[in-house]
Amino acid sequence: MKIKNICCIGAGYVGGPTMAVLALKNPDINITIVDINEARIAAWNDNDLNNLPIYEPGLKEVVQEARGRNLFFSTEVEKAIDEAEMIFISVNTPTKTYGKGKGMAADLKYIELSARQIAKVATTDKIVVEKSTLPVRTAQAIKNILDHTGNGVKFQILSNPEFLAEGTAVQDLLNPDRVLIGGENSKEGNETINALVDIYATWIPKEQILTTNLWSSELSKLVANAFLAQRVSSINAISELCEVTGADVSEVSKAIGMDSRIGPKFLKASVGFGGSCFQKDILNLVYIAKSYGLNEVADYWEQVIIMNDHQKNRFAENIVSKLYNTVSGKKITFLGWAFKKDTNDTRESAAIYVADALLNEEAEITVYDPKVSEERIYEDLDYLNTRSPEENRRLLKVVMEPYHACEKAHAVAILTEWDEFVEYDWENIYTSVIKPAFVFDGRRILDGQFMKDIGFQYDAIGVSI
Ligand code: NAD
Ligand code: UGA
Repeated sequence: MKIKNICCIGAGYVGGPTMAVLALKNPDINITIVDINEARIAAWNDNDLNNLPIYEPGLKEVVQEARGRNLFFSTEVEKAIDEAEMIFISVNTPTKTYGKGKGMAADLKYIELSARQIAKVATTDKIVVEKSTLPVRTAQAIKNILDHTGNGVKFQILSNPEFLAEGTAVQDLLNPDRVLIGGENSKEGNETINALVDIYATWIPKEQILTTNLWSSELSKLVANAFLAQRVSSINAISELCEVTGADVSEVSKAIGMDSRIGPKFLKASVGFGGSCFQKDILNLVYIAKSYGLNEVADYWEQVIIMNDHQKNRFAENIVSKLYNTVSGKKITFLGWAFKKDTNDTRESAAIYVADALLNEEAEITVYDPKVSEERIYEDLDYLNTRSPEENRRLLKVVMEPYHACEKAHAVAILTEWDEFVEYDWENIYTSVIKPAFVFDGRRILDGQFMKDIGFQYDAIGVSI
């Protein structure tokens, strides 16, 4: 089975970069990415590649090569579905904010809408690929919807979860550790799996393309994120212990990471993990475990989230306590708002929660982030609904120049590990801030001794200096 036309529903952080790389490596396949968000599609089609809706190192170059050749961005969802033999669903699956499972279960309304739209439009057989992260057994629900359209079209469902990380999306897509494809265990199922394997095999060695049953594939995605987040919460738990015992968390990370059974990656203590998926996927896992009555399993994984919330809270509390127990009316400068470096994504960023906690203490916050817009920052804060949008704009300012942002600050807090923060002229910053000059390094990226020698009261996650 040779695929010639692909449609991807959802032009977001996953759909955009994933399909761009698929198109780059398969010039003989036409790929149309569709979205209901017109502004997003317009941005993907912008002649100026600096205006792409997503910032990812290397993405501009990939889009430049493939766009208009065999990669297209469109709002004509039904037309693209109709023309494709294979349809990826890459829509968002946020945590439910209402009804049963509120605050835990994945909200599958966008998935269901996509499935119903496919069912409505399809006049020829289709392969439907789950690219979004979904609760285990969602393929069954999608199949039920598709199989009851009554127009005699045959559907095969595949699960092909995405493991890219933001900030390194293009590199991760070009050199993935593995590609996972789950499908039905039948003759047709195997043919369908192979059709997708062939597309990836144009640039990925076959040994790295893993095929499984549908449920293993769906569940593995949730488990991978849970394991990754668990490592961060584990090292963050140890960071607090380091601060009170005189141990240094980066030395501990190095010491344990050199054990090949543990490995060195994902052991960086931080102000807390963020991003659109870790929390959402663990909550989803917890909800699934609970729904099967597996309460110990649910409690075990929920602790990863509890630890992460604690890490964000204690960072904010430490700022208040070191600033003589009051930040009321004091200017605190945030360097970084994104949930990690090299992305303009801010979803669930620790910065949002630390800001909210400090604003509750009547601090005045100034934010500088090299890639995040002022509009986005206010949207993030307003979304919490803690105070009015006017109040958020009065208490928090966004400044597009870092030295200016730090002027007359009572404290500077590093929330994102952007490389440029390390390169700043900290002696210069020292002269412009209010003394005693406090720096709270939530990412442990600066040299503590150097900062102290300048005269800063330097405080970092995971170390008592
Ligand atoms: P996103 O919000 O950036 O993009 C989703 C897009 O889907 C939006 O642009 C939205 O307008 C569009 N959409 C929703 N319903 C639609 C419909 N009916 N028709 C057309 N378009 C529709 O989300 P994302 O970050 O790309 O995540 C998508 C999925 O991938 C989620 O399930 C997520 O868990 C998973 N995932 C994300 C990442 C990541 O790094 N962001 C990595 C791996 C997996
Ligand atoms: C994560 C996974 O790494 C991807 O494999 C997965 O595809 C994706 O989630 C997803 O499903 O959405 P992402 O959230 O983009 O990717 O970024 P990560 O690099 O995993 O970082 C997540 C958060 O953990 C960030 O806030 C980061 O700063 C933090 N982190 C990460 C640490 O605090 N310490 C570490 O050692 C590593």
